[in-house]
Amino acid sequence: MQRILVVDDAELNREMLAEMLSGEYLIEMAEDGEQALQRLAEHPADTVAVLLDLQMPKKDGISVIAEMREGGFMQRIPVLIISGEQAVEIENQCFELGVSDFVHKPFVGSIVKNRIRNAIELFAYKNQLEQKVEEQEETLKKQYQIIRRQEEKQREEKPFNRLMMEYRAAIMEVETRLTVLNAEFSQEYNRNPFEAIKSRLKSPASIYEKLGRRGFPLTVESIRENLTDVAGVRVICSFPDDIYRLAELLVGQDDIGLVREKDYIKHPKPNGYRSLHLILSVPIFLSREKKQMMVEVQFRTIAMDFWASLEHKLKYKKNVDDTDEIVGQLKSCADSIEQLDYQMQEIRNKIESKTRE
Ligand code: GTP
Ligand code: MG
Repeated sequence: MQRILVVDDAELNREMLAEMLSGEYLIEMAEDGEQALQRLAEHPADTVAVLLDLQMPKKDGISVIAEMREGGFMQRIPVLIISGEQAVEIENQCFELGVSDFVHKPFVGSIVKNRIRNAIELFAYKNQLEQKVEEQEETLKKQYQIIRRQEEKQREEKPFNRLMMEYRAAIMEVETRLTVLNAEFSQEYNRNPFEAIKSRLKSPASIYEKLGRRGFPLTVESIRENLTDVAGVRVICSFPDDIYRLAELLVGQDDIGLVREKDYIKHPKPNGYRSLHLILSVPIFLSREKKQMMVEVQFRTIAMDFWASLEHKLKYKKNVDDTDEIVGQLKSCADSIEQLDYQMQEIRNKIESKTRE
């Protein structure tokens, strides 16, 4: 039930008001201003109206209103003055201090009841609206913060995304040059120096993992300076001699630089891994500048690629039983593949020399 605080030093007045309202509301009573403020402090949330006399001992009505204003109660709780005061200035002062209504004594019970109900309803509606506005403000504030955070993130990611775009451009550049060579070879000699190209951009997770593992700073500049395999192109050829011919033609282009070469075909890894790895410096042409980008190009035969894919699975599969045995089998397969690659190449040579005769 909603509470109404009835403040009057005359007991008769308090009783009359209480009796009139007790059916609809819970009635609290105070016989002076000090008591009134105490009662209000006891039930700040569920008091829906204060009926206030002006002339009282200890603390008068005007002082009660002043303190209620300071405590922020006047915005939430309607105060109705019930007074024998006839002076217009006093009545005006009360309204200026924010009271909702002024009822002159002697009063008519039914009219006071209606005026109280109106004031309570109006305040309930006003309070509801204010709460809604507050909630909306809160929601807007949160949305604004989310947008700010997204903007910040985008600003932070922009240089990284730009670098990735440049690496993608470098991959396209290498792919184009290889594709052009392939087109020329099939036109002139009726053969394709490679079977397929597979390209990949290193994922952000692997980039940061590798920088961390090698103790480099996790910044965009650091990626450019310390990693050579963000852009990766894998060229799958049919025969070993195609690998060297293609690599030579690519490195021979006057704007491509060879930064590093690892020839795991001439010097296979102990596990049997064979491929030719080149780190190339490749130019990309942007709207306002030309940039050199690092690209890792791996050349392999189809058979070497087949082997490397399977061997790669072994590296990433933990809990593989009989690893030693598998390693041994893979090494022996690598040896067979090496023989096979060169046998196939010899056969191709024979076929070609016969075709020429
Ligand atoms: P990473 O940090 O692994 O890139 O090594 P690295 O910087 O010493 O370069 P390396 O040229 O030795 O290897 C580059 C890439 O070649 C690797 O990321 C693999 O994709 C591939 N690779 C190298 N060794 C092996 C191998 O033993 N097995 C397989 N399956 N792939 C290999
Ligand atoms: Mg690598």
